[in-house]
Amino acid sequence: MDFAFTEEQLLIQDVARRIAQEKIAPSAEHFDKVGEFPLDNIRLLGENGLMGIEVPAEYGGAGMDPVAYVLAMVEIAAGDAAHSTIMSVNNSLFCNGILTWGSEEQKQKYVRPIAEGSAIGAFALTEPQSGSDATAMRCKAVKQADGSFVINGKKSWITSGPVARYIVLFAMTDADKGARGITAFLIDTDKPGFHRGKTEPKLGIRASATCEIEFQDYLVAAEDVLGEEGQGFKIAMGVLDAGRIGIASQAIGIARAAYEKTLEYVKDRKAFGAPIGTFQMTQAKIADMKCKLDASLLLTLRAAWVKGQGQRFSNEAAMAKLTASEAAMWITHQAVQIHGGMGYSKEMPLERYFRDAKITEIYEGTSEIQRLVIARNETGLR
Ligand code: CAA
Ligand code: FAD
Repeated sequence: MDFAFTEEQLLIQDVARRIAQEKIAPSAEHFDKVGEFPLDNIRLLGENGLMGIEVPAEYGGAGMDPVAYVLAMVEIAAGDAAHSTIMSVNNSLFCNGILTWGSEEQKQKYVRPIAEGSAIGAFALTEPQSGSDATAMRCKAVKQADGSFVINGKKSWITSGPVARYIVLFAMTDADKGARGITAFLIDTDKPGFHRGKTEPKLGIRASATCEIEFQDYLVAAEDVLGEEGQGFKIAMGVLDAGRIGIASQAIGIARAAYEKTLEYVKDRKAFGAPIGTFQMTQAKIADMKCKLDASLLLTLRAAWVKGQGQRFSNEAAMAKLTASEAAMWITHQAVQIHGGMGYSKEMPLERYFRDAKITEIYEGTSEIQRLVIARNETGLR
């Protein structure tokens, strides 16, 4: 593993940092308050190659590697977490799966508009009764004589569901086969039989729109099946391995923003005649924040590096996501504490970072599920 970044990686990091600091961070408070989808900013990210970082140029992307993706995600998340959620779903959950398992026609039709930022993508696995236990899904796809499928059922908590043009959907095609009876489909939300529920009011990442979606006799043509019939669960899990690198990066970005504000504050704020950063109890917090931040980044870069080598990276991604999301919760908690009353005030962004950090321990597999994945990999036991 090389600890030096390439020119290309530094370039995309710089582009992301500039957009994050000039455009996204200044509007983050507004979008958090009104809970509105930041469509113009998302288009801008797409125009700058940030919606398809690992997508080859022939399909409209930036053609870079997973390490570049981590560096860019961290910068966007440091500007605003909600923007990075939308970016993460487009990059890792939508484009990644189609690039790995899709046909040439599917890549041209579905990946290009998302990578270019002219449309939004989504990923629909969770249902009202099945989140962690994803194979307990009930959404059903019934095969017709001509190879097409008719889909009926609900999916819940779908990020970008209220605005998505295309969705990677997982549905049960053979319930008797369990995980091996799940198939992945590419959904065009403009077609009949697709319905969106109300947008969920949330604790954090409020500008990222989330809703339930429903399929009523929705027809999918045979050419819109992603991968093979029955291969859907493996596709979902493989895509989530990549997604977890994105969420780890998001957690690092949120935590870094909280840490940087804290570093400034401990030098300025005085109590008992001295800057609060001179108190040993504050210094211990600063040291622990920095260690957790860098440990998270190193684990995340390792997961990205292993992915870039073309090797299986499920365990590395789970370790990165678990460590980074719990670090982000701890760091933002301490950042609020170090800011005292101002940490609790909406006049400063600390309370938003704290609210935004929480989701990283829940979506794309809760912390308990990451521990389960790691322990199964380490022990070989189930
Ligand atoms: N890659 C490839 N294949 C995998 C895999 C991986 N990472 N993980 C499992 N599989 C395969 C297994 O090898 C197995 O294959 P066989 O049938 O050939 O043996 C099959 O999948 C079933 O695996 P398990 O028996 O391990 O399945 P399980 O039912 O015990 O579940 C789990 C495992 C890890 C708990 C999984 O269900 C899981 O990750 N749950 C969490 C769901 C999740 O993360 N949801 C996120 C939704 S998207 C989202 O949240 C987006 C957002 O917020 C923005
Ligand atoms: P449950 O699975 O019911 O879990 C409840 C609790 O039990 C958790 O603490 C969990 O860790 C614990 N638990 C469950 N099983 C075990 C076990 N075996 N061992 C130990 N503890 C366990 N899903 C999508 O498909 N697409 C999206 O775009 C998407 N976006 C989301 C956006 C937001 C804002 C949110 C909140 C969720 C989103 N999700 C999405 C769903 C998300 O992935 C699930 O919420 C998550 O996987 C947890 O599932 P659950 O909510 O059903 O909780």
